[in-house]
Amino acid sequence: MQQSAIRHHSFGDPLEVLKLEKIEQPEPKAGEVRVRLEAASINPSDYGMIGGSYGRLRELPAVAGREGVGTVDALGEGVSSVSVGTRVRFPGEAGAWQVSACAAADELIVVPPDVPVEQAAVSFINPPTAYCLLKKIVDLQPGDWVLQNAGNSAVGLSVIQMAKAFGLKTISQVRREELVAPLEAMGADHVVMEGTGWAKGVGEITRGAPVRLALNSIGGESAIDQIKALGEGGTQVTFGGMVGDKVRFPTRFLIFNDVRMVGFWWDSFARRLGGGGVREVMQAVYAMMAEGTLSLPVESRYPFSEYELAIKHANQPRLGKVLLVP
Ligand SMILES: NC(=O)c1ccc[n+]([C@@H]2O[C@H](COP(=O)([O-])OP(=O)(O)OC[C@H]3O[C@@H](n4cnc5c(N)ncnc54)[C@H](OP(=O)(O)O)[C@@H]3O)[C@@H](O)[C@H]2O)c1
Repeated sequence: MQQSAIRHHSFGDPLEVLKLEKIEQPEPKAGEVRVRLEAASINPSDYGMIGGSYGRLRELPAVAGREGVGTVDALGEGVSSVSVGTRVRFPGEAGAWQVSACAAADELIVVPPDVPVEQAAVSFINPPTAYCLLKKIVDLQPGDWVLQNAGNSAVGLSVIQMAKAFGLKTISQVRREELVAPLEAMGADHVVMEGTGWAKGVGEITRGAPVRLALNSIGGESAIDQIKALGEGGTQVTFGGMVGDKVRFPTRFLIFNDVRMVGFWWDSFARRLGGGGVREVMQAVYAMMAEGTLSLPVESRYPFSEYELAIKHANQPRLGKVLLVP
């Protein structure tokens, strides 16, 4: 039997290299299950993988997409740990923008039934990244201040809501005024606009408390503003580079303020955590999603046949993810 898959045969611009193709539907081997996709997300790292610039690339031709949720629809010999209908992470290694894929049953991430399906579809990369950025980089205490750019990104919205739940205070930078109200409604303590020189007045925002952690997924001037706003001994974590420039650093803050710069990549962090550690992080994410403490907006859904429109939409200013459904 054949199934649809959004694939690329070379690395490049997604709108140029992606094609909707028919491929063989896989059959699960012993110990494996087949998962049928319910919804997949479009993330900036998908473009890195399709473009050939990401930290880890697939062999070509490759099915695109890294994050999706599905249900088990066939069991290989000897599988008893899950049943048909169990909702799980779509096997991301195989590429998430295809109708079905197989995975070892004992490597599945099972999604609790009380997590809404579209929340599950966006739960596997950005929320655990936000969780680890807040919990695993520096030892933050309730009342501590955290800064971030791309406040309206999926990571940013996760940070805002999780920080609220953990008793942390946030300053979120965005580049559109219309985002202030929705971010505040989600629990943002303070929203600042890119390029307004807000870093000079950070002490007024925090009433003199130091900012201990800055989350940088953009780079450029906004990363430099963060360093200026960090308190003595504060840490900046760079985990994305939407501006695409080299990381720059104002030397005096390194010397006189002892600011630290570190990096974070969920893929390698998850490998170090191991299966049990990842499941623990995901349980924390799912507990928040199930109780509604964490809710990520979904802006739109497109069938595979309209993947080009979906990608164009995902490249527009938005608040929430664009999903692909088979
Ligand atoms: N290292 C890791 O493990 C890891 C894990 C997850 C995510 N990430 C990174 O985290 C970032 C956010 O990912 P996401 O999926 O949460 O993003 P998203 O929901 O797709 O949102 C993209 C964000 O980037 C902003 N942006 C895009 N181009 C920009 C530019 N030139 N200057 C300033 N802002 C710009 C957008 O702002 P506008 O709305 O104003 O356009 C929006 O806030 C990405 O860099 C991604 O690669 C890294």
